[in-house]
Amino acid sequence: MMRYAHIVGWGCYLPNRLVTNDELSTMVDTTDEWIFQRTGIRTRHIAAAHETTATLAFEAAARALTVADLNPSQVELIIVATSTPEYMFPSTACKVQDYLGASRAGAFDLSAACSGFVYALQMASQSIATGAVRNAVVIGSETMSRVIDWSDRGTCVLFGDGAGAVVLKGSSVPGGVMATTLRSDGSGADLLSLPALYHNPVPIAGAEYSSNGHHKNIIDMDGRQVYRFATNVIASSIQDVLKKCELTADDIALIIPHQANTRIIEAAARKLKLPMEKFYMNVEHNGNTSAASIPLALCDAVSEGRLRPDDNIVFVGFGGGLTWAASIVKWDVTPPEISFVDHEWKRVRYIMARGRSRLRRWQRRVEANMVRSSGNNKEPGN
Ligand code: UT7
Repeated sequence: MMRYAHIVGWGCYLPNRLVTNDELSTMVDTTDEWIFQRTGIRTRHIAAAHETTATLAFEAAARALTVADLNPSQVELIIVATSTPEYMFPSTACKVQDYLGASRAGAFDLSAACSGFVYALQMASQSIATGAVRNAVVIGSETMSRVIDWSDRGTCVLFGDGAGAVVLKGSSVPGGVMATTLRSDGSGADLLSLPALYHNPVPIAGAEYSSNGHHKNIIDMDGRQVYRFATNVIASSIQDVLKKCELTADDIALIIPHQANTRIIEAAARKLKLPMEKFYMNVEHNGNTSAASIPLALCDAVSEGRLRPDDNIVFVGFGGGLTWAASIVKWDVTPPEISFVDHEWKRVRYIMARGRSRLRRWQRRVEANMVRSSGNNKEPGN
């Protein structure tokens, strides 16, 4: 039985455009000093007009599949954790499935805000553990820049865009995703929210409304309260998941937390009596990329050589919902050498996948026209 879900591939994508704190200080009343001291953030990436949550997710997933050496046609499940989908449906995951040409994959989005990646990892690893699928692509992808009020200095300095992905593969060898703890507390829903595009008839207390009575499609956050919540749940969820695995903090090589604010992690480290070196941080470069932040940090940790085979690592996420989650993963791969030719050849595969997709769309249109012109377009019951 292939019941252990191992991470065998990882990939990330960041848009080219880099926005510095100084640039933000020309837009709102802030300074590089304030932002860096209070959050640890110096820069963030912002998606170009032609980029979407789905295109970012596709880029990250394609890279992860290259590392995993897995053909898209073999992928069985795609989960995209995101709070910034383009549509309620089709899901971002379905768009990624199409871009990849992953013709045999089930695909859906998962909404758990900044904890989304850890939630999705758990869903995918359990699907592998039960034998429902043999592999899965788990992606965290966000275009936070599209849901920010760029005149609100309390939030616009915090967030960034990006995507990270991992490929999970079933194996009979013990390892991979070992234990996970998922938690939520909906009584804190008003502390951090992003209304859906069309208004919800039952408003959340404290959520913002535009003058026509509809929700504004922007993030609303009570920073101080979320800060307090985060420092508590990071420590408790790490302790919880360690207990599930019968491990202690000494057995953990690296903790990769959701990258929201360096001060939050420093406070959590103090609570856990752990040195900051145990925590991997890259919030300085990417800002808070919500569900994408953990897989983005994982990619950086791997490329900096911070992970070795047999290391136990912890992912810990926290955010809107309120939600929080932690996972222990045994890291058991060494990054493969990928030649330029191999990489480029795999890109050709995706151009072909887009061609096939276009062809299918065209075929559907032709068939619909043929049915119409043959007079077979009567309403049911007519
Ligand atoms: O992804 C998970 C969810 N998000 C988080 O984890 C975020 C959690 N919260 C935080 O990280 C912090 O609360 C913030 C970084 C958002 C804010 O830091 P803070 O130390 O809690 O500041 P504050 O909200 O208490 O504000 C202190 C002061 C205020 O001025 P007054 O009222 O003291 O005069 C703010 O108006 O700082 C002011 N302020 C700013 N000043 C310059 C708020 N934003 C800015 C800014 N530049 N960008």
